[in-house]
Amino acid sequence: MGFVSSLALSHFRSHQNTTLHLDSRPIAIMGANGSGKTNILEAVSLLSPGRGLRRAAAHSMMRYPENLGWKITATTSTEDTVNEIVTRSEQGAARDVKIDGKNMSQMKLGEYLRVLWLIPAMDRLWIESSEGRRRFLDRIALSFFARHAQNTVIYEKAMRERNRLLKEQIRDPAWYLALEKQMATSGQEIMEARTQAVAYIQSAQDNGGDDFPHALLSLSVAEGEVLATESDLSAALSASRARDLMAGRTLVGPHKVDLTGVYAAKDIPAADCSTGEQKALLVSIILANARALRQVHNISPLILLDEVSAHLDKARRASLYAAITDLGLQAWLTGTEREIFQEFEADAQYVNVMDVDGSSCIEQTL
Ligand SMILES: Nc1ncnc2c1ncn2[C@@H]1O[C@H](COP(=O)(O)OP(=O)(O)OP(=O)(O)O)[C@@H](O)[C@H]1O
Ligand SMILES: [Mg+2]
Repeated sequence: MGFVSSLALSHFRSHQNTTLHLDSRPIAIMGANGSGKTNILEAVSLLSPGRGLRRAAAHSMMRYPENLGWKITATTSTEDTVNEIVTRSEQGAARDVKIDGKNMSQMKLGEYLRVLWLIPAMDRLWIESSEGRRRFLDRIALSFFARHAQNTVIYEKAMRERNRLLKEQIRDPAWYLALEKQMATSGQEIMEARTQAVAYIQSAQDNGGDDFPHALLSLSVAEGEVLATESDLSAALSASRARDLMAGRTLVGPHKVDLTGVYAAKDIPAADCSTGEQKALLVSIILANARALRQVHNISPLILLDEVSAHLDKARRASLYAAITDLGLQAWLTGTEREIFQEFEADAQYVNVMDVDGSSCIEQTL
């Protein structure tokens, strides 16, 4: 698995025409607020399947006022191969993907690059609703198990149909059986992938060399619920039918599972930690995810850390940079000041981003 050796953005958000030539070292992107730093990270996140780190629609990434559509071209390099990935949206239509000149499904991107990220919107992950934590967990699970994406699609489609039956107050069990079977089969694989992902993260944290505070992670299901096997899931769904009919939706299943985090050294729930501690827990998990991918699949992911450095004290920042250098992966970091990257010294490459007449311009420096 390679690193990005060049990246060209055409009419992508604030970038009319931006090209970066890179080596495998981490990239420190610096610039004033609104200069176009996060937009670069978002473009890199689109080199993996899905909607990218802002979860935005393709049309909103078109550079205005022209609204012509956008194009991202990346070259990825490993020791012995070079590939070209192009993803673009014409006039705001759903994005397509070409790899080495051939049309490919977005899913194929995962065979070339794995991309993990931490963005400011995740700062409240431990405090807000379980949805964000589930999404975070599922991205981790997906980084290990490509099938997780398909299973999620199958599960959600069957659940939507089941919810429609519930809303229409259909009581005949015959209508539910086939859908519940699909939900149980895909749901069991979803649960297994999540459980395994948590175990990988845990063991990578335990065996890691970084001094970030470790998170004890676990999956939590409602009291009295067991959702481990296919038959557990079938039984839970059929037992919940009467309650679900009253609610008009499915109240039990993997879509309700939460991710619990505890600050290991202090034994306090992540939600009760300080802002900086909560951030450090997320950094620890991302680093563990990268380390586990190396251990399990021999893959080095790209990691995108948007405005992470500014929230860490000097010592934690130094640990983060040491961990990144140690993992030998291409990390993309943003910050408003050069000062916060100084602990990297020559171990990083530097990019300045500026707004010039409403368009982002870049300058690569030593
Ligand atoms: N579709 C678009 N077309 C043109 N400009 C856009 C589009 N979407 C966003 N922008 C602009 O891009 C600019 C840069 O955004 P970006 O989020 O990359 O800034 P940033 O450098 O990360 O700033 P901050 O330090 O505040 O996080 C913003 O001024 C934003 O309004
Ligand atoms: Mg930003």
